[in-house]
Amino acid sequence: MPDKKLSGEVFYPPENVLRHAHVKNWEELSASAEQDLEGFWAKEAHELHWFEHWDKVLDDSKKPFFQWFVGGKTNIVYNCLDRHITTARRNKLALLWEGENGDFRSFSYFALGRETCKFANVLRALGVQKGDRVTIYMGRVPELVIAMLACARIGAMHSVVYGGFTVEALAERIEDSQSKVLIVSDGSYQRGKVVHLKAIADEALQRAATVKSVLVVKRTGEDVYMESGRDMWYHELMALPIAGNNCQIEIVDAEHPLFLLYTSGTTGKPKAIVHTHGGYMVGTYTTLKYVFDIHEEDRYWCAADPGWITGHSYIVYGPLLNGTTSFMYEGAPTYPYPNRWWQMIEKYGLNILYTAPTAIRGLMRFGEAWPNRHDLSSLRLLGTVGEPINPEAWKWYHRVIGKEKCPIMDTWWQTETGMFMITPTPAVPLKPGSGTKPFPGVKMDIYNEEGKSARPNEEGFLVINTPWPAMLRTLYNDADRYVEQYWSKYPGAYLTGDSARRDEDGYFWVIGRVDDVIKVSGYRLGSAEIESALVSHDAIAEAAAIGLPHEVKGNAIHAYVILRAGIQKQDGLIDQLRSHVAHELGPIAKPEHIEVVDSLPKTRSGKIMRRVLKARALGQNPKDLTTLEE
Ligand code: WTA
Repeated sequence: MPDKKLSGEVFYPPENVLRHAHVKNWEELSASAEQDLEGFWAKEAHELHWFEHWDKVLDDSKKPFFQWFVGGKTNIVYNCLDRHITTARRNKLALLWEGENGDFRSFSYFALGRETCKFANVLRALGVQKGDRVTIYMGRVPELVIAMLACARIGAMHSVVYGGFTVEALAERIEDSQSKVLIVSDGSYQRGKVVHLKAIADEALQRAATVKSVLVVKRTGEDVYMESGRDMWYHELMALPIAGNNCQIEIVDAEHPLFLLYTSGTTGKPKAIVHTHGGYMVGTYTTLKYVFDIHEEDRYWCAADPGWITGHSYIVYGPLLNGTTSFMYEGAPTYPYPNRWWQMIEKYGLNILYTAPTAIRGLMRFGEAWPNRHDLSSLRLLGTVGEPINPEAWKWYHRVIGKEKCPIMDTWWQTETGMFMITPTPAVPLKPGSGTKPFPGVKMDIYNEEGKSARPNEEGFLVINTPWPAMLRTLYNDADRYVEQYWSKYPGAYLTGDSARRDEDGYFWVIGRVDDVIKVSGYRLGSAEIESALVSHDAIAEAAAIGLPHEVKGNAIHAYVILRAGIQKQDGLIDQLRSHVAHELGPIAKPEHIEVVDSLPKTRSGKIMRRVLKARALGQNPKDLTTLEE
């Protein structure tokens, strides 16, 4: 326990958790990492397998295009699967899965390795080569994990599109990545209904012409359209002799790209973040091990979706790299009743639960009786991610779910960072609503407009001052925008796009986005994407979308639209527009509220001033309107 008395409400680590923890003295680890950044990461990297040792841990000669473990040869999948299969972990459970309809499947490390090899052979037989992009669009089913691993095994890049996105979002991502292969499921179960993923994909493929082969995983068994010469069933391919049990792994450079993941930025279309085999592997392995304190006997559950970075890093790669047993659930938390999650924690004896504040707030609404019906004593650690957690939700989670025995790891990070950046470990005293301090080896600061460190408790721009191994390497096919968006405001510092403050104890408090990214229920969307979905409707000439505070979702989307000349506002138009956005972009992007207006506030150069709309909606006085046209 630290000597210094911390200010505010503080929760100290329980004795039993501390005794168990890999990191007992956080300050010491952090100080050693600060002293020798490369040594710290190299030591972690040595716990993993390399076909060839690296020459240099960090190469910053071409910054901001940093490179890690330069000259090293590896493959993340070797470390996720093969490495364990040669040890006693061969028979350990890698993945436990429950479908929303109650189906259950499990895979040992051996079995997951087999399936991955078989599917990797299928992909190779279809002509997928090292460096090719493969788009994956599925619900939360084990085949999604298998598909990702199979791509990585042969050195191809996966581009997973979240199953909650729809036609235009999928088409755009396929086209931008120039994927020749799409892996999709017939459908998925959500809230007792079937989401027709294959049908959505068919529509998207009419707009994106690059795809030559579509591999369809049977999940719901619904009738789907199969285009001859293009569409093939996954299970049929996996039964063919081409799907051999062994698959030569592609040995790749540490810097070989592992995947693309599209995310919303400040302006324009979503851009693909590029992550690599070597650095991303070391970063996710190390952070998961220390933060969720992974031990051999653990059963770990990250309740995110594999279609977002949280799922990539902490459902798929991080847990497998650590050789842990990971649980995955297909459906909605409240289906058929609001005790579904608590029931599964009890049933499978899960030790760690990692989720988003919005889920906690959503479940909180149903009251304590639902969790109290279940034995949740297996839980040791809890976690949250995606948006700031309000102290009320934190305390409910801590008291009702964790029974005041489970520290909460509030992890701040981004698609771009690939790994936890501001986060406690179980040994760190917690303050509800703060992610505490940067992970060892990570240096972060809060800058004021001039790029000077803000005073304690002064709000400013959150920046990262050190390179870290799991950092994005670039934006796919857009290196200029990579430099522009992240490295140009303050020389030498990475701009996160968030505002934050740091208290007198050095604890970070993240406030929220300062750009046009909207976090809805923890999902990351861009104003521009929502606006372009609205404008693609025949009745709409112009649109502006902003996020406004929402009790459960954190933020809700509010849109303002100008109708095309000659179009009258009719009954049902607003509903039509909302459905149109859900059809084009996804149900998560459906605006809460749409207002028809005659004009939108703009700068002289014609850019919509969303800030003004937001201030107006919140009844605030928008500051600094000098560039405003009207
Ligand atoms: C927000 C999700 C407060 C933040 C892993 C960041 C958070 C954006 C937290 C990235 C947290 C994430 N507390 N805010 N613990 N975690 N955020 O790329 O605004 O989907 O910039 O990655 O989520 O969202 P992304």
